[in-house]
Amino acid sequence: MSDIKRTPYAPDFIDVDLWDPSTFADGPPYEAFAQLRAEAPVAFHPEKPRREGKKPGPGFWCVTTHADIHEVSTNPDVYSSWLGGFTGADITGAVLEETRLNLMAQDPPDHTHLRRAVRDPFSSHGVAKLRSAVEGFARDTVDKIAHKNEIDFVDEVASDLPLLVLSHLMGVAPEDRGLFYGWTNAIIGNHDPDFGGTIADFLQAKDELFAYGRNIIENKRKNPGDDLVSTFVQAEINGEPLETETIIHLWFLLLIAGNETTRSSLTASMEALSAFPEQRELLLSDLPTHLPGFIEEVLRWGNPVLHFRRTASVDTQLGGAEIKAGDKLLLWYPSANRDATVLDNPHDFDLTRSPNMHLAFGVGQHFCLGARLGRMQIGIMLTELLTRLPDIAVSAPATRAHSNFLNSAKTLPVRFTPEAGH
Ligand code: HEM
Repeated sequence: MSDIKRTPYAPDFIDVDLWDPSTFADGPPYEAFAQLRAEAPVAFHPEKPRREGKKPGPGFWCVTTHADIHEVSTNPDVYSSWLGGFTGADITGAVLEETRLNLMAQDPPDHTHLRRAVRDPFSSHGVAKLRSAVEGFARDTVDKIAHKNEIDFVDEVASDLPLLVLSHLMGVAPEDRGLFYGWTNAIIGNHDPDFGGTIADFLQAKDELFAYGRNIIENKRKNPGDDLVSTFVQAEINGEPLETETIIHLWFLLLIAGNETTRSSLTASMEALSAFPEQRELLLSDLPTHLPGFIEEVLRWGNPVLHFRRTASVDTQLGGAEIKAGDKLLLWYPSANRDATVLDNPHDFDLTRSPNMHLAFGVGQHFCLGARLGRMQIGIMLTELLTRLPDIAVSAPATRAHSNFLNSAKTLPVRFTPEAGH
């Protein structure tokens, strides 16, 4: 165990280890979060080594209330994304330097300039241009399963759509999709041993993916079009074009940020439809009217992202705790999304919830750049599924990744009546 013990000390209040990925194998530990919110909303958590023979980590502050996550996320001068990066891992040297090329690991003013330069494709106008492509991908995905009656939803639906959309968005040629999927799986697999990923696989896949991406960037510099990478190569900060290294990290960030999150939102949608039959009935009674509320509630209830990190740049106070400069803070979004001080009956699934103050996309400077695109993909896929396979329902519980970072199902069996005509 870490020899640092600060108060309030999380293990004095909860009996689960929030650093241990297996704690999240059945979904987020909502009761432990409720306990912390009630008794120690900002609590210090020790960090056991994840591998045998390694030293314990420095420990971190658990930020669990909606108000405190809001406070941290909207004060980048005090709570930095640049100092220690955006995940719980403590990185230094060249790895930290490389991470800082990433939009997510920057603070204002650099973050503000870069985000402004690249945000257009994610605006309502930019995302609207992708609608018909996303509809086509959703149709193709459902075409492939519509004649069956039982499938693994994660494998055959939820994984496919975001990858098809991302490869389209990122300029991957259709004939290279197989390669792109292989690299992506090796990269994603790295955080769960069941996906079979090793560090060596991860590094090799990342090198190959980066080489492929650099090639796309160079081609778009020579022949710009009306696509995302062309927007990036034409973007400027203070009259200077973005460097290829900045663009490649942005390109890679989209793949990482837009993939598993959308996949888990789709999987959570299936779980919610089966867990709450009266909500399903309401949704199907008028899909166009109720779909937007259903999507927001799935994001709140399903919590695709478990935490992001900030590092204190000065000594400060938060939720009654004394934070020291250099301390690590983990923002537990699932906890904020069950916080009864801002959400009535937070454990109920209610698609009519209004306002729905969830923090599934974060808040503040780093609010999810892909939120519109994510919502659009969920909406289009649910429309396609519920129109063509309206009785689709979970037939066995999901198996979940062991991760305290992303809340992903690895498998989710679903059953449905095959579409008429098959
Ligand atoms: C649909 C489910 C999604 C969820 C739940 C989600 C969640 C999040 C969260 C929690 C953050 C960090 C907020 C913070 O640190 O304050 C984030 C940032 C980000 N997301 Fe998403 N995301 C989703 C989909 C996407 C998609 C589809 C894309 C793009 C293809 C995307 C791209 C990004 C980017 C680029 C950032 C960094 C923004 C910045 O640092 O300024 N996300 N997302």
